[in-house]
Amino acid sequence: MFAHVEHYAGDPILGLMEKYNQDTRENKVNLGIGIYYDDNGKLPVLPSVQQAETQIFNPIKPRPYLPMDGLVGYRTACQHLLFGKGAQVLADKRVATIATLGGSGALKVGADFIHTWFKDAKCYVSKPTWGNHISIFEGAGFEVAEYPYYDAATNGVKFDEMVACFKQLNANDVVLLHPCCHNPTGIDLTPAQWDIVLDIVKEKQLIAFMDIAYQGFGEDMDADVYAIRKAVELELSFFVSNSFSKNLSLYGERVGGLSVVCPTADEAKLVQGQLQFTVRRIYSSPPSHGGHVVDIVMNDDALFTQWVGEVYEMRDRIRDMRQKLRDVLEQKIQGRSFEYITTQKGMFSFTGLSPEQVARLQSEFAIYMVSNGRMCVAGLNNSNIDYVANAMATVLAD
Ligand code: LMR
Repeated sequence: MFAHVEHYAGDPILGLMEKYNQDTRENKVNLGIGIYYDDNGKLPVLPSVQQAETQIFNPIKPRPYLPMDGLVGYRTACQHLLFGKGAQVLADKRVATIATLGGSGALKVGADFIHTWFKDAKCYVSKPTWGNHISIFEGAGFEVAEYPYYDAATNGVKFDEMVACFKQLNANDVVLLHPCCHNPTGIDLTPAQWDIVLDIVKEKQLIAFMDIAYQGFGEDMDADVYAIRKAVELELSFFVSNSFSKNLSLYGERVGGLSVVCPTADEAKLVQGQLQFTVRRIYSSPPSHGGHVVDIVMNDDALFTQWVGEVYEMRDRIRDMRQKLRDVLEQKIQGRSFEYITTQKGMFSFTGLSPEQVARLQSEFAIYMVSNGRMCVAGLNNSNIDYVANAMATVLAD
C-alpha cells in the first residue's frame, strides 16, 4: 500500500543533531543546530523562566484549552517586543497577533493565510536561507525562488543585486526577510540598507514577511527590530513571525508568534479571524505551558528586566567566543583574516568551509556543523574552543 511513498532523506539540521547524539566519541562538539549552550556546554534554564515556572506550578493548576490565538498577555508581549510598548500602530489596533507553535508554526500559518488570500503570490527567499523557509512555503503551495544575498567574495551582502531583483518582482509577491541575525550567514543589512529595501517593498507593493527568531542576540532588543519598526513607519502592511525558542531557551515548548500589520483596525479584525481559522484547522490551539511562561516573564516588570539581562549575557558569551575563535585562527593561519567571524551577528557564522571540509571535521574530529558551512557559535565554550580552532586550521590548511 505504501510502496509508492517517497523516501525522506532527513532534515539537514535536525538529522545532524540525531547523528551527534549517537556519536560516542568523548570529544564531540555540536556546532550544528541553532541552540544556545552555556560555557559548560549545557542548555540553560533561564532564572526568569524558573521563577515563572515556580508560579505556574505552585499550586499546580488545571489546563484547559487555550484560545485558538493564544493568551492575551502572550499576544501583547509579542507586540510590545516587536513594535514597542507605546507604538501608535498598537494603540490603533492595526496589528493582528496570534501565538503559534514556535517560529515554524508562525511561518506555516502565515504562509497558508497568504496562499489562500493572494493565490498568485510567489515567495522569494534569500540565497541562502534557513532550509525550512523553502519547505514551509513550498508545503503551503508556493513557488519559491531565491533573491541574491550572500557574497562569498566579500563576506557581505550582494546588495545591489538584491535590490535589482526586488525591483523585478510583481505586486503581492512575498519577500522573506531576516530582520536580524541572518540564518545561516550571520550577515545583516545595515539600517541604511533596510531603508532602501523597504522603500522598494512599498513602491512595488511586495508583501514583506519578516522572520525574527533571534531578537536580542544581534545588537539589542530594539536595534534588532529596526526593520520591523521602519516598515511600520513607512505604513507597510506586512507579516512578522517571531520565536521565543532561543531568547527564552524554551525550544521544546514551541513558543512563537505571528503578527500581521494591517492598514486599518477593521482589516486587522478580519485577519485575526482568518488566522484563528487557520490555526483551528491545523492544530486548534497553542500549547499552554510555554504560553503561560512567556505571559508571566514578559508582563512582570521585574522579571522582564531580568530576562533582558539574561539574553544579553547569552549574546555577550557568543561574542566572546567569536573573538576567541578569530584570535586563535589568525594566530594559527598567519596572513589570513578571519574578521568575518566577529562581524557576523547572532548564533551563526558562515565559515566558508566546503562540504568536504565540514565532512572531515565530523569524521576526523567529531565536530558537527551544517554541510553548507554554517557553524553555531553558541556551541563553542572555553573548554572546546582550542580544539575546534585547531581542527578548523587543520582542514583549512590541507
Ligand atoms: C536552526 O536553524 O538550527 C534552528 O532554527 C533550529 C531548526 O529548527 O532548524
